Amino acid sequence: MEQSEANPEFEALLLYLKQNQGYDLTGYKRSTLTRRFQHRMSSLNIEGYQSYLAYLQTHTEEHLSLLDDVFINVTSFFRDRAAWDYLAAEILPKIVANKLPDEQIRIWSAGCAAGQEIYSVLILLAEKFGLDFCRKRVQCYATDADEAALKQARQANYSELQMTGIPADLLEKYFVKSETGYSIHPLLRQSIIFGRHNLAKDAPISKIDLLLCRNVLIYFNAETQASILVRFHFSLKTTGFLFLGQAETLVNRRQIFAPINLKHRIYKKGLKLEIEDQLSIHSKSHRKPSLQPFTVQSHFWRTAFETNPVAQCAIDLEGCLVSANEQATLLFGLTLNDWNHPFHQLEPGKLLDSEALISKLNHCHQPQILKHIEWNTSNQTRYFDIAIAPVFSFRQKMIGLLLTFVDQ
Ligand SMILES: C[S@@+](CC[C@H](N)C(=O)[O-])C[C@H]1O[C@@H](n2cnc3c(N)ncnc32)[C@H](O)[C@@H]1O
Repeated sequence: MEQSEANPEFEALLLYLKQNQGYDLTGYKRSTLTRRFQHRMSSLNIEGYQSYLAYLQTHTEEHLSLLDDVFINVTSFFRDRAAWDYLAAEILPKIVANKLPDEQIRIWSAGCAAGQEIYSVLILLAEKFGLDFCRKRVQCYATDADEAALKQARQANYSELQMTGIPADLLEKYFVKSETGYSIHPLLRQSIIFGRHNLAKDAPISKIDLLLCRNVLIYFNAETQASILVRFHFSLKTTGFLFLGQAETLVNRRQIFAPINLKHRIYKKGLKLEIEDQLSIHSKSHRKPSLQPFTVQSHFWRTAFETNPVAQCAIDLEGCLVSANEQATLLFGLTLNDWNHPFHQLEPGKLLDSEALISKLNHCHQPQILKHIEWNTSNQTRYFDIAIAPVFSFRQKMIGLLLTFVDQ
């Protein structure tokens, strides 16, 4: 714990914001947070966290001004140019080469601020592969926790000053002169979906080929950084890349990301996730106070489950998804949001008759196999044999079902 995390008056402020305004800032580094709070308080001539708490309680819009100070939106086009040159020369061609001719390329700028980062990637892609390629093949997501920053990003209108550093040829090709500065080319703008997303809380976007999260992780404490990295691991495809900011180092408890180019902070997926990693993304309040150390055997079985090339899902007695291995996650496009969700509403659950599933939860004491179950997706039909096996506790009490989907 950072030293200033021990300041109870400051922690009371954070608790108030979390419980009354729905803004959870507890995962941010206290050193940065206290500086930002002090900045806001001195502009109001308020001294002391208790007085500021009273002010927040009586001024209903104040938390918005405070958050404006807390979310530091500093950004620019091609920030750290050398890293972008490397990305253009080495990484983007690899991403495209990994794809089938009409397969989509999915890019996520997480903590996009006013949008310059996502437009920088698109400009590089358009330079290499053409505007038409971007329009047809590239799907971008640009997210931020700060609605004001997102508004600017959506408008994509930048002042002369913000355009500093954009070479004249790129300016001419990808921007349109506007009354107040420059707007991004509408064809590039079309490939982006903007949205509010809190990295420390919300489920990650899945099947991403390139994830940019630059100059954002530095604001979080080590525990929150580690849990965000676990979410990113879920997010990235096996062949995907993670691009961090120049000043950032990975807090990798285990090497779940491995460097491709350390200088430019570009990583690929490393080790697979383990149960401890997955637990780190659940909020502290839901976590058991102390986790028993895993024995070698349980570690072995967990790894076997995760790495099994056959898709498997575990559901509890309430019929909710408790766990899915990596193959099931990829096959059915599951995300963290699906954990604890009624299984019959999820893609793999729809393959089974929901009433039959509930009856199996009540009466299935022997493994069963459902043969030749059809799964129609938008572009193909596949068939599975689905093995349904009851799971018993050591006391022989049934605790759920394990479903194995064997692709035929
Ligand atoms: C310094 S800017 C970085 C912008 C851009 N990625 C870059 O490197 O130029 C940090 C951004 O992170 C966003 N941010 C802070 N906390 C966040 C959170 N919990 N979830 C998502 N974005 C967050 C801020 O609103 C801000 O726009």
